[in-house]
Amino acid sequence: MSDKPLLQVKDLKTYFFTASGTAKAVDGVTFSLDSGKTLGIVGESGSGKSVTSNSIMRLLPKNGKIVGGEILFEDKDLAKVKMSEMLEIRGKDISMIFQDPMTSLDPVFTIGNQIMEVINAHQKLSKKEAREKAIQVLQMVGISDPEQRLKAYPHEFSGGMRQRVIIGMAIACQPKLIIADEPTTALDVTVQAQVLDLLKNLQKETGTAIILVTHNLGVVWRMCDTVMVMYAGKTVEYAEVKDLYANARHPYTWGLLKSMPKVTDDPNVPLASIPGTPPDLKLTGGSCNFHNRCKYCQEICMKESPEMKEVAPNHFVACHFSKEELEKMGGSIDE
Ligand SMILES: Nc1ncnc2c1ncn2[C@@H]1O[C@H](COP(=O)(O)OP(=O)(O)OP(=O)(O)O)[C@@H](O)[C@H]1O
Ligand SMILES: [Mg+2]
Repeated sequence: MSDKPLLQVKDLKTYFFTASGTAKAVDGVTFSLDSGKTLGIVGESGSGKSVTSNSIMRLLPKNGKIVGGEILFEDKDLAKVKMSEMLEIRGKDISMIFQDPMTSLDPVFTIGNQIMEVINAHQKLSKKEAREKAIQVLQMVGISDPEQRLKAYPHEFSGGMRQRVIIGMAIACQPKLIIADEPTTALDVTVQAQVLDLLKNLQKETGTAIILVTHNLGVVWRMCDTVMVMYAGKTVEYAEVKDLYANARHPYTWGLLKSMPKVTDDPNVPLASIPGTPPDLKLTGGSCNFHNRCKYCQEICMKESPEMKEVAPNHFVACHFSKEELEKMGGSIDE
């Protein structure tokens, strides 16, 4: 493995231009990811997790544009490559798994046809070879009787099976990176765990890197090596998972960690939540986006957006105040 990360996203900005103003959906996202590793992206609904993922894939609607930053993937900047080049990269080097498998599967074609189409998109195989490869894909994702199942239509599969097929299709071309945007949210808890285990095991075999967007911090703990916390379009904290759980530095991350249920919780005590709501993304800028909800907000927080700082090796935080300064104000994860 080379020393250079597989993917480096630096100060990415993706804005949406609407009749009522410019929404800064992604407004300073920074992280890196090595081959074979998994990055979790967490943050409240609307914080820009999907827009970040879709920017890497360059899957943005007409009114959405990458207006700044870099997406360095191997030796290319995906923020700037031509669309024709991006089409080559999609599916071959980077695959995406969406929350709802029905958005990726076409109801009028058989499962077999759809897997073969993906396989054929980037490699020239005979029909027989493609069919054999499709059977292997179904076997790989644990679907029994694969020869028969190739003839089935998506509606004949359960939600969990459909998501297994999608994972198989994503992995079939041995991409270097898989972006999974809430891949198991639509599934029940047991199936969720099976699908995530499958993804992790396939990752061990293929060495692919994964970006996993999730609301579930338990999933991050189980699956990820590093984690990026997003708030209102910005990276507020990025660290190795163990470090983040042991040493979270940003007041928003504290709130997020406190809102995670634990087995030892008293069921009569309601879970902690962060009071207030995120800002309107058309109005952000010129202050810390979290200032109106932060217990430790000071004058500077209302006037300047904090820069990302490396506070410990590979641990980045965007807060005007250090851990010690926050502690002096009475700040800690237990407050
Ligand atoms: N086409 C669009 N036009 C204008 N604004 C958009 C568009 N698409 C997304 N946004 C805005 O970008 C912001 C970030 O959205 P995004 O879908 O990335 O959130 P998310 O973190 O993935 O949330 P969730 O957890 O609910 O999936 C939201 O405020 C959303 O309203
Ligand atoms: Mg989303």
